[in-house]
Amino acid sequence: MAILPILTLPDKRLKQKSLPVEKVDATIQQLMDDMLETMYAANGIGLAAPQVGVFKQVIVLDVNDEEGKRNHRPLMLANPKIIRMEGTLPWREGCLSVPDQVAEVVRAAAIEILALDRHNQAVRVEATELLAVCLQHEIDHLHGTLFIDHISALKRSIILQKLKKKASEDKEK
Ligand code: NI
Repeated sequence: MAILPILTLPDKRLKQKSLPVEKVDATIQQLMDDMLETMYAANGIGLAAPQVGVFKQVIVLDVNDEEGKRNHRPLMLANPKIIRMEGTLPWREGCLSVPDQVAEVVRAAAIEILALDRHNQAVRVEATELLAVCLQHEIDHLHGTLFIDHISALKRSIILQKLKKKASEDKEK
């Protein structure tokens, strides 16, 4: 397994749309394993392939359990598609590609998705609470959408300015 570099704003590649996977083969399984290792190393709870510069519809997630510990039953999914959304749920979100920034986003409270699992089997996942929020956030990445695209233009521009400033400071170092 390998830890992959994570793209961060203002990198424009984060706006790129990802293509569906034809089959979850050994190459995609390797990608899923590397993404999971990368996510754990960065203390994230979800990661989408475009965040590591791979424009394929692959996401990995592992949300915390009640004690705040990893349940180590990660979801590794290809071609996730939301087939049902119900209710609304505001949630304070962050993103490994938008470092140190959080904002409240209103998501669906309950969702149902179809996807392929690590063994190329079709799976149906029902989710509420944090898992539902995280799935919607990661699926958004596959369409080039970030959580800041769901907040007000003013809040978004403040976050973007901060990240652009940080990127130019990092370049000067
Ligand atoms: Ni994210």
